Amino acid sequence: MTQKIIIDTDPGQDDALAILLALASPEVEVLGIVAAAGNVPLSLTSKNIRKICELAGRPDVRVFSGCKGPMEGSLFTAEYVHGATGMDGADLPEPTMPLQAQHGVEFIIETVMANAPGTVTICTLGPMTNLGTALAREPAIAGRIKQIVSMGGGLFEGGNVTPAAEFNIYVDPRAAEIVLGCGAPIVLMPLDVTHKTLTTSARVAAVKALGTRLSDAVVGWLEFFERFDEAKYGTDGGPLHDPNVIAYLIKPELYAGRLCNVEIETKSELTKGMTVADWWGVTQRPKNATFMRDVDADGFYALLTERLQRLPHEA
Ligand code: RIB
Ligand code: CA
Repeated sequence: MTQKIIIDTDPGQDDALAILLALASPEVEVLGIVAAAGNVPLSLTSKNIRKICELAGRPDVRVFSGCKGPMEGSLFTAEYVHGATGMDGADLPEPTMPLQAQHGVEFIIETVMANAPGTVTICTLGPMTNLGTALAREPAIAGRIKQIVSMGGGLFEGGNVTPAAEFNIYVDPRAAEIVLGCGAPIVLMPLDVTHKTLTTSARVAAVKALGTRLSDAVVGWLEFFERFDEAKYGTDGGPLHDPNVIAYLIKPELYAGRLCNVEIETKSELTKGMTVADWWGVTQRPKNATFMRDVDADGFYALLTERLQRLPHEA
């Protein structure tokens, strides 16, 4: 059964691989892609999404621009990881496909309300600003969304922006609080999973061996993107975060986690953006999210590499 999905994203090299995986996979139907402000400002993420779609030979995909910054506070970006363009490591031509006129938040609301209840999945790969804003504007979508699958948070792995907070949650903790409290089924792909899917030399070499213009761009992204985390963690390769969200939709058996309560710290300066996951069930708080912790990393990379091969070789 093909799953209808909306991807909300802030490319970002890892976001790019997630989008490519989705566009290469018949298990999912991408209804639209909404740009979030995160890794780099909205003007760049909304351009980067279109570059990725054109690289995949999919100028037909509807791309929308979302909110310019978090629901509260100012935008914090991550050029220090992703480079000035947000997708350093590969030079792609300026996109020619259009940006849709409709605001991305309105697209999310309209699409969820227009489709049968329980049929649309929302995948967030960046700060949850657009989904949080949509839920605040039209709370009725919460009861109609099939599931929300989000890259974000961390527990046993801690944070990657502060000791407590992962980037996507740190940038917009208020939006994450709204999403986690909305009542829709939620799957979180935290750093506890993504730190187990490293872009090791062998895995990058397997992508390189595909030998296409697309795989060359992917290798360029991976080799640029991983350098920050390799230096930070002293590992062979860096965590590949966002494609885990799409891989979960295609092969959920690759992942294991636990339904538990997850709350978001929004007040403390020290721990703002922390995902407080009650993994051991020490509270009576409602179990509102499946917090993933384990992954078959080799299975993940086998899926990703096999699907990249399906994309056009000369787009
Ligand atoms: O912390 C990792 C997350 O922040 C990923 O989604 C990455 O693309 C950035 O958005
Ligand atoms: Ca991202």
